[in-house]
Amino acid sequence: MEMCVCSVLLLCVCVYVVVQLIRFFVADADFTLLWAAAMGKSAETALRRKVVWITGASSGIGEELAYQLAAVGARLVLSARRENELHRVRRKCLEMSSLEDNDILVLPLDLLDRSTHQEKTDAVLQHFSKIDVLVNNGGRSQRSLFLDTHIDVFGGLMELNYLGTVSITQHVLQHMIHHGDGVIATVSSIVGLMGAPLSTGYAASKHALQGFFNSLRTELADYPNITISTICPGPVVSQIVHNAFCEEVDKPLSNVGDQSHKMSTKRCVGLILAGLSNRVKEMWIAQQPFLLFFYLWQYTPTLAWYITDLFGRKRVQNFKAGMDADATYFTKSKPKAS
Ligand SMILES: NC(=O)c1ccc[n+]([C@@H]2O[C@H](COP(=O)([O-])OP(=O)(O)OC[C@H]3O[C@@H](n4cnc5c(N)ncnc54)[C@H](OP(=O)(O)O)[C@@H]3O)[C@@H](O)[C@H]2O)c1
Repeated sequence: MEMCVCSVLLLCVCVYVVVQLIRFFVADADFTLLWAAAMGKSAETALRRKVVWITGASSGIGEELAYQLAAVGARLVLSARRENELHRVRRKCLEMSSLEDNDILVLPLDLLDRSTHQEKTDAVLQHFSKIDVLVNNGGRSQRSLFLDTHIDVFGGLMELNYLGTVSITQHVLQHMIHHGDGVIATVSSIVGLMGAPLSTGYAASKHALQGFFNSLRTELADYPNITISTICPGPVVSQIVHNAFCEEVDKPLSNVGDQSHKMSTKRCVGLILAGLSNRVKEMWIAQQPFLLFFYLWQYTPTLAWYITDLFGRKRVQNFKAGMDADATYFTKSKPKAS
């Protein structure tokens, strides 16, 4: 009889472990975020009529955020440098939602021009009287080997991804402290937590954001209704590779390659909305095997360094051979003829 009970228990444990492994194998976000998406507040409930300011709203993740937020009835401030693109996004938001003209403000903004950030914040407050959510999303990536890269590229990445974000945050946070409520969500990256070759400066700028916001969150412990949230996506379909810094500040990337193997922008943003709605403090969003890397870097760094070196070596070899650095991890692309 005792043997029988033990066997049943062992079977249950085995089934549980197998089920969890299958869940992990098909997961595309950390379990806290997936739980929030399945069981938490819906975006309609949490974000309807909220004022959400998105930087980098003219393409990629920021553009898709605008559409999904419009669909749930959030009021929007759309910022980036290209005003015509922002108006295109605004028109589409109005077409697909019940929002009215006044509910979407197009506010051109250069994150590098920090002297304008106070007046831009004032313009939002003048229009909407409040800011409920700031999504720090604008930014650029990098594709170049460290030794071939001009030092100004490292400066440019820090100025844009780190200092530009910190500057906007400082102005908006003053208002949120006064108001006693708000969410500051920042799109960091998987490389805000781990390292990646060809992205030394980009990873540094995202690590800087992680350190900054982790510290700020604790500094704001006396303001429990202000949430600091960092969003860490793995590879997602967008214009990020087209816009990446290379060896020189003004040099465009020569080989963008096929980006379609990446996570869809729609799915990534759907998960971000679940995180924002439930005030999740850190979101890991990536398909496998990238999701596994988050866990390895967090819990078993020595193993993570070993595996990252294996993949990283291939990435560098591909890059040096003139191939797209990402796509050829899992597909057999031929080198492009020069
Ligand atoms: N896609 C991915 O695989 C991935 C993965 C992890 C993290 N991320 C992060 O996600 C965020 C959004 O990137 P994305 O993938 O959506 O790339 P994207 O399509 O290139 O979008 C970048 C956005 O940033 C804006 N931007 C660039 N420079 C700016 C400046 N000086 N001032 C204001 N806005 C500026 C761009 O607009 P304008 O050119 O009109 O200014 C654009 O709207 C970035 O922070 C990126 O690091 C992306």
